[in-house]
Amino acid sequence: MFFYYTIIFVGVNTKLIFVNKELELKKLNQEIRKCRSCGLGKDRKNTVPGEGPANAKIMVIGQAPGALEDKTGRPFVGRAGRFLDELLKIAGIKREKVFITSIVKCFPPKNRKPSEEEIEKDLPYLKKQIEIINPEKFILLGELAFSVFFPGKKLKDFRGKWLKKDKKDYFISYHPAAGIRFVKFKKIIEKDFKKIGKL
Ligand code: URA
Repeated sequence: MFFYYTIIFVGVNTKLIFVNKELELKKLNQEIRKCRSCGLGKDRKNTVPGEGPANAKIMVIGQAPGALEDKTGRPFVGRAGRFLDELLKIAGIKREKVFITSIVKCFPPKNRKPSEEEIEKDLPYLKKQIEIINPEKFILLGELAFSVFFPGKKLKDFRGKWLKKDKKDYFISYHPAAGIRFVKFKKIIEKDFKKIGKL
C-alpha cells in the first residue's frame, strides 16, 4: 500500500514539476518576444527562443537564428537545421526529446556573427532556460556556444569529446552551418556525432 501511494505521489509530483517548468518557459518566451534591448529587435520578424520539452535531459545550443528561423520563429529549421536532424539521427537522439536553442535569440542580418552587446543582452535568457529545464547534458555547436561555456579554450582541441563542468556534461562540435559549407567540416562533424552515443 505504502509503495502504491509513493508511486502515485511521485507521479503527481513529477507531473506538477513538468507543468510548472512548462509555465515558466512560456512566461520566459513571452518576455523574449517583447525584448528590444539590442538592435536586432528592430528588423526581426520573430524571436526564436527555442523549442523542446521543458524536462529535456539534453540541450542543444547553436549560435543565432538564420533567415528561415526568423520567418518561422522555430530553431534550426533551415539548411543547418536539416543537417542537425541528420546528426541527431547519427547520434541516436530524437529531435523531439531535446531542447534546441541558440545563444542569441534574434536573426543577425545577413547571418553575421552576433556582436558582444547582442550576446551579452541575450545570455540571461539562456541562463534562465537552463535554470528552468536543468538539463544533464549539453551539445555545444560552434565557436560561440563553446566560448560562452569554456572561455579561453580552443574548440578544435575539444571537439568530438565530452567535457565536464559543474556536474554537467558538454559535448562539443563545430556548427552544422560549417558542415553545409565545407565538405571537410561535414565529415568531421558527422564523425563527432557518431561518438556521442559511444562515449
Ligand atoms: N543556427 C543556429 O545557431 N540557430 C538556429 O536556430 C539556426 C541556425
